[in-house]
Amino acid sequence: MLYFTSYNARAYALKESNFDDCQSFVKAMLVKHENEGYTSANSINIGRLLPQIVYYYYTYLTLVNRGVIHLGDLIDVVVPTGNFGDIFAGYLAKKMGLPIDKLVVASNKNRILTDFFTNGRYDLHREFMKTNSPSMDILISSNLERLMYFLYEDDKKVSLLMKDLKEKKVFEIEEEKLKELQKTFAAYCCDEEETRETIKDCYEKHHYVLDPHSAVSYRCASLYHLPKTNHHVISIATASPLKFAKTIAESLDIPYEDDISTLYRIVDKTGVVIPPALKKILSCKVPQEKISKDEVEEEIFAKHSFVVKAPATSANLGPGFDVLGLAVKLYNSFKFEVSDKDELLGFAKEFTNENNLVLIAYQKAFRNLGLEPLKVKITQVENNIPLEGGLGSSSSCIVAGLLGANAILHHHYCLEELYELAIDLEGHPDNVAPCLFGGLVANVKDDKNVYHHGQYPVCSCLKFVLVTPKESVRTSEARKVLPESYPLKDVTFNLSRLAMLPLALEKGDLDLLYTLLQDRVHVPYRKSLIHDYDLFESLAKKEHLPFTISGSGSTMLYIVKDENSLLNRLKELKTTYEFKVAVVSMDEDGATIKKESDYE
Ligand code: HSE
Repeated sequence: MLYFTSYNARAYALKESNFDDCQSFVKAMLVKHENEGYTSANSINIGRLLPQIVYYYYTYLTLVNRGVIHLGDLIDVVVPTGNFGDIFAGYLAKKMGLPIDKLVVASNKNRILTDFFTNGRYDLHREFMKTNSPSMDILISSNLERLMYFLYEDDKKVSLLMKDLKEKKVFEIEEEKLKELQKTFAAYCCDEEETRETIKDCYEKHHYVLDPHSAVSYRCASLYHLPKTNHHVISIATASPLKFAKTIAESLDIPYEDDISTLYRIVDKTGVVIPPALKKILSCKVPQEKISKDEVEEEIFAKHSFVVKAPATSANLGPGFDVLGLAVKLYNSFKFEVSDKDELLGFAKEFTNENNLVLIAYQKAFRNLGLEPLKVKITQVENNIPLEGGLGSSSSCIVAGLLGANAILHHHYCLEELYELAIDLEGHPDNVAPCLFGGLVANVKDDKNVYHHGQYPVCSCLKFVLVTPKESVRTSEARKVLPESYPLKDVTFNLSRLAMLPLALEKGDLDLLYTLLQDRVHVPYRKSLIHDYDLFESLAKKEHLPFTISGSGSTMLYIVKDENSLLNRLKELKTTYEFKVAVVSMDEDGATIKKESDYE
């Protein structure tokens, strides 16, 4: 699945597949799920061809306006093609009256269309070749059927041709029909080496970087040019060259590495501007996994509900006030179902209203895109994170609401964008980031107010013992007790500990962690808000265990490798107030979305 710039479009990368397989699969799905409101974004959809017609008019009128041609002069247009879509739009433009004389089919070495327009046989008995112009690696050219309809004006005849193609893998048109086609169409092809040469030549002569598909067209245009025509010849360009970094690098002698650095080398050398959509993808972590056809059908068409599971987080970890947080294996989970009305089930009474943070976050994700939120039924299915307990319960609700909306929005947002939205709603990146990304996470805000985060490894040997008194502490109250400024020695005390903390957590060095979890920025001021704090702290000192307040409290956190002895000591502790104990390890995944059927 790839993140998309539109909320109602989604792209999948299919396992063990090529364009022809994908297109046949999409056609079969569209027939199977007819009237369910789905369509394809490629030229199966006539809605894709209609705006393409406009490009031909725009180009023609631009030439007129620039004084290159006079209104009414004939032009020829060369179109890179595989599925016969864009060129078919040109054919429709010509039929509508645009003065196009010839349309020139430009193919790569999968030259099935070149052969067809040369000898009238559309013959699938050939190898499917993967090339450096992949969008033209097509053997079953969908829109040719539409051209056949215009050629014969007889749907039964077209059905017979398509039946032959399906059953015999070949169809043939009569000599006189081929001649008729050749009055409008010429056809050329070029191989991969020629594509690279063309990119290089064009860049050297005109300082213009062709993408490989546009290069195929440009090459075919040069083959077609004088003396075959005395019209102006337009060569259609298609994609950004930056989508094909490897071929561009090879063509322009730019060192190639299979990562983003190549792209920036191309930008540096040629000055090509990165298109905004590509920039967005580059700034996001895009999952690369491919899925099978069965999984795609299930993902798109099955009407299932899903569950978002969001972990508790322990912010600050002693000296890392407001910057560091850790996700732990303690969860709140919420089921989302698109519904005809907003409904909240399984929540405490005080949250079964419009102040519900899950719903607020869910709606924010839609409104941020200028969309009216889809009505939703949200059911709390797991409620393990204590409220106002210093374990990021509000973050879990906000992150879950955002992820729930994002799943319904077909993953419009990438995680980094959800991170920004969540901070905006929650205010505490040290809770939001570990909840969303999992693990131990540090955050920093730059001078443009943009947040950045980074994860640190933590030894799996460590366990976190959470002691939560019955009486909670509001974060707002716990912030009010903090001073406005600090003596330099306290700042240095914290900085020295914070600098060493990730290292000790990675090593699982409990002895060092005992020192490193000490803090002079918030704990000394907040401890009086927590019932029996001194008793729990004394126990930590006696047992030489790393200890601190989790977030703004009231939960307190011990770090251990083996919890048994501590649990016994806690049982023996003579406290005045009730408290709960949970032993958890670190959550590495952050919030997850699962289909209800996969959720345990
Ligand atoms: N860093 C914040 C604080 C976390 O300690 O106030 C709130 O959960």
